[in-house]
Amino acid sequence: MGSEPIVDPSTVTPRSHLAPVWFQVTDLQVASGEGCWVTTVDGDRYLDVTSGIAVTSTGHCHPTVVAAIAEQAQRFVHAQVNCYRHDLLEPLAARLAELAPADIDTFFFANSGAEATEGAVKLAKQATGRPNVIVFQGSFHGRTHLAMAMTTSKTGYRAGHTPLPSGVFPSTFPHTVGTGLTENDAVDRALADLRFLLASQTAPAETAAVILEPVLGEGGYHPAPDRFLRGIREICDEHGILFIADEVQCGFGRTGHMFYVERSGVRPDILVMAKGIASGFPIAAIGASAELMQRWPVGSHGGTYGGNPIGCAAALATIEVLTADGFLDAVDARGEQLRAGLSTLADAHPVIADVRGPGLMVAIEFRDPVTGEPDAARTAAVIAHCREQSRVLLMNAGTWGNVIRFMPPLVISEDEVALVLDAVGAAMAATA
Ligand SMILES: Cc1ncc(COP(=O)(O)O)c(C=O)c1O
Repeated sequence: MGSEPIVDPSTVTPRSHLAPVWFQVTDLQVASGEGCWVTTVDGDRYLDVTSGIAVTSTGHCHPTVVAAIAEQAQRFVHAQVNCYRHDLLEPLAARLAELAPADIDTFFFANSGAEATEGAVKLAKQATGRPNVIVFQGSFHGRTHLAMAMTTSKTGYRAGHTPLPSGVFPSTFPHTVGTGLTENDAVDRALADLRFLLASQTAPAETAAVILEPVLGEGGYHPAPDRFLRGIREICDEHGILFIADEVQCGFGRTGHMFYVERSGVRPDILVMAKGIASGFPIAAIGASAELMQRWPVGSHGGTYGGNPIGCAAALATIEVLTADGFLDAVDARGEQLRAGLSTLADAHPVIADVRGPGLMVAIEFRDPVTGEPDAARTAAVIAHCREQSRVLLMNAGTWGNVIRFMPPLVISEDEVALVLDAVGAAMAATA
């Protein structure tokens, strides 16, 4: 997810009592947020194109979300789901059933993306009676032990934590940038590799699920081609393997679709969501058909906080905002504006090897125009210039840290996108 820390906590006075394990994208101390902007304790305003890592879908402190949280906080802060059921659980599940792809109509609630991806795999194991799971190179499914084993976007996440849980088998993602392959050839190769994996390492009878981010997140904002998604579905159907779509980062309108997987017409068996679902309140969900959920033995999974009433209120309010007339069209329009501006910059600066990504899940990739090698140094320099000179906050992505990802709040305006483009343009010129 990151690069070297920019702050050495041991040099900060007074001494910090925070664990230094968090890498930091910036050293800013923020006091408040509103829409696409955060304000520091010194009163400086920054345009936040990170959305707190693709979370604040409706922007910081959207009034509808804040009002729902405030109202709910006065009724119930914690209504533990095993002890009793509160009155927002069923409405949220019913609303998600309306929004999710066909057949995904039954939901389990958790607190974070990692918890939800692990839960989805537990469900798949219980439902199939099989032990293994297939992931794709460049994947990021979280930082708990199984999720870490399923994460292949960077060795930094895994190093020092091995041995990781077994039963996780990485297959090929159909990358084109930097490989010289056409999309068709990349998809053919990736599907052939998946079949090979099932013949050589994890037999279908031992494979519970294939888990894929329909748009790779930490791996560099690579959308999975439709033919790849359809091919995975076909292979899963042939062998009774479940297809888990991890839409933790790409779900909830981020791509201009409520869920990216739906645009390909492919139906996952299990859908995992978090991040943008509640504009920043920690809640996550695992969705599947009622029939599949029935196969999860009662009591074999759970959690103290899952389905927290304030989280449900924040999610329902977020959904109200995201499903307002024209909201997702605006996401598409702002995404197009952003990609068009970045493409113009790419024409002027050949170090930008690719501009990609649906909706407001946009990325530019930096590669040496002569050698084709990833250029992480230029990527970091552009991000730093945007922050220091233009007060625009950006993050990197990708195995080599040579991708800048643009994941602004989905409410970003035309003028704000123009500010982002000006900042990146200035940074490209200054770091050339
Ligand atoms: C696709 C995807 N899955 C899972 C996770 C893990 O989510 P969390 O950090 O909430 O555990 C992330 C986080 O970046 C993600 O992008």
